[in-house]
Amino acid sequence: MTKEGVQYGSSKSKLLTITSGKGGVGKSTFTANIAYLLSKRGYKVAVIDADIGLANMQVLFNVRPVHTIFDYIEAKAELSDVIMQTPYYNVYLLAGKSGYSYANHSNSFVLTRVVSDVVALNEFDYVLIDTGAGLNDYVKEFLKISDNILALTTTDPSALTDVYALMKMLSKDKNSLMLCFNHTKTAKIGFSIAKSLENLAKKNRLNTNFMLEYIGNVSSSSTISTTGRLRKLFAYEFENETVTTELEMVIDEVLKKMNGGL
Ligand SMILES: Nc1ncnc2c1ncn2[C@@H]1O[C@H](COP(=O)(O)OP(=O)(O)OP(=O)(O)O)[C@@H](O)[C@H]1O
Ligand SMILES: [Mg+2]
Repeated sequence: MTKEGVQYGSSKSKLLTITSGKGGVGKSTFTANIAYLLSKRGYKVAVIDADIGLANMQVLFNVRPVHTIFDYIEAKAELSDVIMQTPYYNVYLLAGKSGYSYANHSNSFVLTRVVSDVVALNEFDYVLIDTGAGLNDYVKEFLKISDNILALTTTDPSALTDVYALMKMLSKDKNSLMLCFNHTKTAKIGFSIAKSLENLAKKNRLNTNFMLEYIGNVSSSSTISTTGRLRKLFAYEFENETVTTELEMVIDEVLKKMNGGL
């Protein structure tokens, strides 16, 4: 664990942070569906909407939060008031707030404290963080405390440029970054682009202890966009579709990396 990582102490909760660099690549959709698929495997999962200012996880889960993480930060609510049950058994949401102005707080530590406090509850098997796009100060702060980071990207050149910027930043003080492609036609494409990114990292002499771990791909599918629009999870509605199987395979890899096995 890096020195800034959340101190797990005796907590069983494992933290997974989903980020991207470029916006709109499918982070929130993945986070919500991964949460559901983990719950289907018997785990209790909390999702923290860390997209400061543009929170939309409540839309994906089709819930109306009474309290948000900011109510907890501002001491207007208990943590237990903020943790809300979603329509999916054993999937809980700590909602964010759209249009929230972060300038109210003097430092970003207050935001990441929510994560440490949820982990300290020792109630969830997995705590997933959905970050916003870009590499702004909030995103950096959430990445700093995370040891398991999943970068989602498309094969779009601008998205790949952003992922490389993320690799460059994380290589300074993290051991690894999991890389997953969205909207790819075959796993092979993802694999070869991951190799190219690795080679670029070597050429530019990024820290050699830093590992890029390719963990799979999910294809483009109207099933995903349609279910999203209907405020439903594709992995729940279409459990036998290719995209759900692909995401299950990604989760197999994530769990292997996080736990050294399934
Ligand atoms: N594999 C896919 N096939 C088709 N549509 C997809 C796929 N993945 C995501 N989408 C759609 O792409 C849109 C953007 O997804 P999403 O909001 O999850 O991205 P995001 O990375 O969280 O965006 P932001 O950076 O704005 O937070 C949504 O309409 C979603 O349904
Ligand atoms: Mg999002």
